[in-house]
Amino acid sequence: MGKHKGGVGCTVSALELAYAATRRTIHGRPRRVAILDLDPQGNATDVLEPKQRRIGIKDVLAPPDPATARPLALRDVLIPTAWDNVLLAPADRHLANRETDLTPHGIATLRRARLSGEIADMVDDVVIDLPRDIGRLAATGLLGMEHLFICAQASIWGAQGAEEMRYTVRRISEKGNPELAIAGIVVAAYDDARDSRRVLESMKSRFGNLLLDPPVPRKVRVREAVESYHTPCREFGGRDLEEVADVYQKFYDSLLAQDGSAR
Ligand SMILES: Nc1ncnc2c1ncn2[C@@H]1O[C@H](COP(=O)(O)OP(=O)(O)OP(=O)(O)O)[C@@H](O)[C@H]1O
Ligand SMILES: [Mg+2]
Repeated sequence: MGKHKGGVGCTVSALELAYAATRRTIHGRPRRVAILDLDPQGNATDVLEPKQRRIGIKDVLAPPDPATARPLALRDVLIPTAWDNVLLAPADRHLANRETDLTPHGIATLRRARLSGEIADMVDDVVIDLPRDIGRLAATGLLGMEHLFICAQASIWGAQGAEEMRYTVRRISEKGNPELAIAGIVVAAYDDARDSRRVLESMKSRFGNLLLDPPVPRKVRVREAVESYHTPCREFGGRDLEEVADVYQKFYDSLLAQDGSAR
């Protein structure tokens, strides 16, 4: 909490998209969301304050001691959080230690869970927060998901990172998850300075429609709301944070419209 890090806004995007989902209804009630925290840093887990974090996504991917224990089912590690209608499969640091222990079996767990509708009676949407580095944990997440939001900064490095992710997605979809598609590239924490505007234009010509519009504006109070007060931007309030929430709502709504009509 409160640590400085070079993040590009992925975790905040995951949380805000999940929150945006809960503002929409299905069968006359709010949509329910599961967040799977696949980042050993556990930033999403810190924000959401689950009722307990002893068990978590690590127990689904690999048991503590494969000789004596079996992995848990995904539904067994979905814990209520401080956010209404948001369940969480918590992360912890052992996720990183245990990464090397992940069996091929464990790696495809999330994909199987999705295809079999294992938690379809509990939640309507699943949001997975990935670690920054593309290792086995990120690959596990990519194998398990259908729509990937890539988060990038409006910078040369941001554009390169998005390009690398696009390549990784192509490989993963060929190698084991043909349903995987890029929902869009989110330009998170965008400051409307002249040089970032120029980079944004060049990203537009490089990525076309994949680059989501508008970019998420950089607002200093996002950090305070989400990290210090564990509160979604819209609920923390203020015109600046509403602006941020509106952009995420737009992204969620257009994915929902697209996904709904595809079924
Ligand atoms: N729109 C925004 N405006 C201002 N600050 C933001 C915005 N979005 C995110 N931040 C802040 O930027 C920092 C990094 O965000 P976040 O943790 O979401 O990035 P990340 O990509 O998940 O990082 P990591 O790679 O460490 O997982 C955080 O302090 C967060 O509060
Ligand atoms: Mg993160």
